[in-house]
Amino acid sequence: MKDAFGLPQSLLVLGGTSEIALATARRLIGRRTRTVWLAGRPSPGLEEAAEGLRALGADVRTVAFDALDPESHETVLGKVFAEGDIDMVLLAFGVLGDQARDEREPASAVRVAQTNYTGAVSAGLVTARALQTQGHGSLVFLSSVAGERARRSNFIYGSSKAGLDAFAQGLGDALHGTGVHVMVVRPGFVRSRMTAGLEEPPLATTPDAVATAVELGLRRRSETVWVPGALRLTMSALRHTPRAVFRRLPI
Ligand SMILES: NC(=O)c1ccc[n+]([C@@H]2O[C@H](COP(=O)([O-])OP(=O)(O)OC[C@H]3O[C@@H](n4cnc5c(N)ncnc54)[C@H](OP(=O)(O)O)[C@@H]3O)[C@@H](O)[C@H]2O)c1
Repeated sequence: MKDAFGLPQSLLVLGGTSEIALATARRLIGRRTRTVWLAGRPSPGLEEAAEGLRALGADVRTVAFDALDPESHETVLGKVFAEGDIDMVLLAFGVLGDQARDEREPASAVRVAQTNYTGAVSAGLVTARALQTQGHGSLVFLSSVAGERARRSNFIYGSSKAGLDAFAQGLGDALHGTGVHVMVVRPGFVRSRMTAGLEEPPLATTPDAVATAVELGLRRRSETVWVPGALRLTMSALRHTPRAVFRRLPI
């Protein structure tokens, strides 16, 4: 069960090697999280991630999970919940894609959309139902500012995150009053494996900063978290920028 401050004892990460998710897991283990499930595509990286968290004193298990195989989600995730209550699910999987290549090769663009959006729809609904059956828990989605308004330079990724974000908001409303809390986290540019080698925009942040914001959001039972917080106003201004101006911005 979560403690009086809303922090989880047990955590299920979908996208178990995500740097943002692992920073969050480390932070929560430093509070009171004792059991962690890392769900992800089997790899040495997934096992190393589990070892790293075990070294902090948590009981960590890995489970094979592929966002691109929604048919398997009920079975795979059902087995995790059958082992005991999960206080928090962190939906962290995602791919950035390569905008230029994805525009040339629609099949690879579809893979971005299927991972980030339909994968999240499936895993989100499966875990939401399991949390609802328990009667408690938080479902945290890693969305992105990229979904707030699609940009010329990454509209394939951006549109997939816009879909995920809208889905998560609707799911949060559907679960309001059930004891299950849905939180949408919208980071800006985070220095992680996903963005390695890309030019940093202003307000770039770190996985640890996202982890801190997630913890605060859990404590406050927030529905939306921006990281850094200043992006909320920035994105509000960008959202209302006329299209003809927006498309000329160097973003
Ligand atoms: N970095 C940023 O600037 C930024 C900003 C805003 C939002 N986000 C979002 O935050 C989340 C985590 O990103 P990150 O920065 O921590 O990047 P990351 O370290 O590259 O993590 C991405 C994760 O997604 C997993 N994944 C990809 N395809 C998958 C699939 N088909 N099935 C299961 N897992 C899959 C990867 O697993 P493998 O090890 O198997 O590849 C990895 O665990 C993503 O949803 C991302 O879109 C990131």
